[in-house]
Formats: sequence, structure tokens, C-alpha cells
Amino acid sequence: GAPVQIDISQLELGQLLTVEWRGKPVWVFRRTTEVLETLPTLDDELRDPQSEVAQQPEYCQNETRSIRDEIMVMVGICTHLGCSPTYRPEIAPADLGDDWKGGFFCPCHGSRFDMAGRVYQGVPAPTNLEVPPYHFQGDNIVIVG
Ligand code: FES
Repeated sequence: GAPVQIDISQLELGQLLTVEWRGKPVWVFRRTTEVLETLPTLDDELRDPQSEVAQQPEYCQNETRSIRDEIMVMVGICTHLGCSPTYRPEIAPADLGDDWKGGFFCPCHGSRFDMAGRVYQGVPAPTNLEVPPYHFQGDNIVIVG
């Protein structure tokens, strides 16, 4: 499939865009400073905090799983059985509980992922969400593929 180009110049803090790449949903979202500060504090609760068995390009095997810390690019497909998780960036919403720090919730069997797509322990999804190959063209264009 052809690469997909995404203009992020209008992407606001906390906002998520979905594009289609090779028939898959790909999310691009802008992380807040609060989110970036939270990520390193979650490691003990995650199955693969360093993304050692996760699928991502080599240049995204880091704490934020991204090229630029504030911009996250991720395949929006649960690594359990392929449902699409829901974007839930809010902290401790009533339906997800006090320990929810913001992330992605899969409605099919309850898998939980953080704002870098890293899977929590004790849920059915075996691995972190996939990061597709991508790069930037200038400040505001992301090219996936
Ligand atoms: Fe997401 Fe099963 S498909 S938890």
C-alpha cells in the first residue's frame, strides 16, 4: 500500500486523528506534558515497558515509543483479537476506575494500554500496540508507511 500523509498542524493537545493505512486504522495524537510525565511512572504495571517484544520500528523503541515525544503514531488494533480500542485520555473516569491514568481501553475483553500503547499486566492482550513505520516531513506532516 501507498504511504499516507497526515497534516498535524491543526492537531490540538490531547486530540487524536484516525487515518487508514493498508486497511488498518492508524492513530496520530498529540500528548500533553502531563501525559509525558506519567509514562515513566507506569513501568512497573506494564507487561513490556521497554517494548522488547513489541512491534515498532527501531527508532521508536524508547520510553515514548515515538520519534517526537509529543506526537504518537500507532496502529489502532488490539493485539488480543483485533478489536479497536477506545481512546480514553481522561484520568480516573467513573467507568474505568480511580487507577485509570489515561490511555486506550479495548471494549471487547477489557485490555488496557497506556498513552504509548503499552499493555498493562493482567489483561488478555499479549503485547503492546504496534507502531507503524513513519517519518516527518517538515514540522507538520507525518508520513505513515
Ligand atoms: Fe481487545 Fe480482546 S480484542 S481485549
